[in-house]
Amino acid sequence: MRPPLGCAAVGRTRRQGEKCNATDPYNLLVDPVAGSTAATPSADAHGPDTARSVAPPSEQDVLDLLRQVVDPELGVDIVTLGMVPRVRIDAGGAVTVGVKLTIGGCPLRAEIKRDVETRVALHPGVTDVRIDWGEMTADERSSLMATARLHAREHAPDTEVPASARVLAVASGKGGVGKSSVTVNLAAAVAAQGFTVGVLDADIWGFSVPRLLGIDERLEAERVDGSDKPKILPNERRVGRGTLKVVSTGFLVGEDTALMWRGLMLAKAVEQFLRDVRWGELDYLFIDMPPGTGDVQMGLARMLPRTDLLVVTTPALAAQKVAARAADMARRSYLRVLGVVENMSAFVCDHGESYALFGSGGGQALADEIGAPLLGQIPLEPAVAAGGDAGAPVALAGTGPAADAFRAVARRIVDEIAPPANMAGCTARMLSAVTAALDARDAADAHSSDS
Ligand SMILES: Nc1ncnc2c1ncn2[C@@H]1O[C@H](COP(=O)(O)OP(=O)(O)O)[C@@H](O)[C@H]1O
Ligand SMILES: [Mg+2]
Repeated sequence: MRPPLGCAAVGRTRRQGEKCNATDPYNLLVDPVAGSTAATPSADAHGPDTARSVAPPSEQDVLDLLRQVVDPELGVDIVTLGMVPRVRIDAGGAVTVGVKLTIGGCPLRAEIKRDVETRVALHPGVTDVRIDWGEMTADERSSLMATARLHAREHAPDTEVPASARVLAVASGKGGVGKSSVTVNLAAAVAAQGFTVGVLDADIWGFSVPRLLGIDERLEAERVDGSDKPKILPNERRVGRGTLKVVSTGFLVGEDTALMWRGLMLAKAVEQFLRDVRWGELDYLFIDMPPGTGDVQMGLARMLPRTDLLVVTTPALAAQKVAARAADMARRSYLRVLGVVENMSAFVCDHGESYALFGSGGGQALADEIGAPLLGQIPLEPAVAAGGDAGAPVALAGTGPAADAFRAVARRIVDEIAPPANMAGCTARMLSAVTAALDARDAADAHSSDS
């Protein structure tokens, strides 16, 4: 929640003698005289006489001004986003702007209100600005999301990641849940099916991908015609019928010096990897995200807006809340959550007995909460850790329940939830489900904090 703003910060010029209403910091209370959240900006700005002597603006003039009101979260103007269903201007120059918010309790309401009022008031013929608030329907919301994503895509900076590659970022609310193990095992199992799969270790200072994959060669750089900067070449490994292309700061600094990277701006380092690595042909790019930080997700959303998220959680019910934050952050940066992977699930011994060492139900609970499918449960099994230590992901050559579970999730990714770009088509439906579920949760939260 943002800190409450005072009247002045909301941009509404106080009339003489009027007090800033301390119980209404956002100035959203209905104005008892005007019957709406009225402001009288131009009366102050231009004086009542001059304002009335100028012709009122046309609807187009007002819409043009409103195109400068940019939704602070999405970076797109409110007209383009379909948040302005109507504009009314009366003969006296009073303007009423209809504004539909994505959700009723939107915390950005005060900011949008201030922006709309001050911008429309700039037009000389305007004597009064009122906002008629509304709320979007689910359909309107999903079309807004589509517009925002399209916009982000069109304005994304160049990366060397081919446009046809499916980008899957593996995230979790905190470290130690097996995010890196899940990333390398899924990447390896997808590659083994015959795909070319990139692995970007975005856990810049906590990298573990080199060890997990048993790769330690330094990265080479290659001169590129027409550019003064060389490009980094990923480390390549043949895996089954496919190829892994791996990039990690571990190939630059060695595991011991990792601590020196702490001061580095994480998001910048990831951006640089996306820009300066010559990935070449790629069907998939798996990104091992650093734990619990929003910066990198925001950077990714800007650089690669088509990134989809896989959220890893442990079966403990408490862990699910932490992981939900990762999903929530994704939604705020308009990334899609494609599915949940539960790791360290119940271990079933040879005698068929099940040991739920880390609790149970967390994966399904998270999936239900965010409306994304539970893609699989990877049991807690020594073979996973041993494979990691040996640099041989269990999903490749291993046998046993964990290896099987990783391979099954990899198949689901390829066949169902993130088919290679040319076979895609059904993920959009899943996005609506996730959005709807998270919106419902927001509405419930807003309701409980209101009451
Ligand atoms: N399913 C599993 N069964 C057994 N050990 C696991 C499993 N998943 C991860 N581990 C072990 O747990 C530790 C943390 O895993 P890691 O992938 O590094 O987590 P994160 O990247 O989330 O910090 C590692 O020692 C790893 O070998
Ligand atoms: Mg890790």
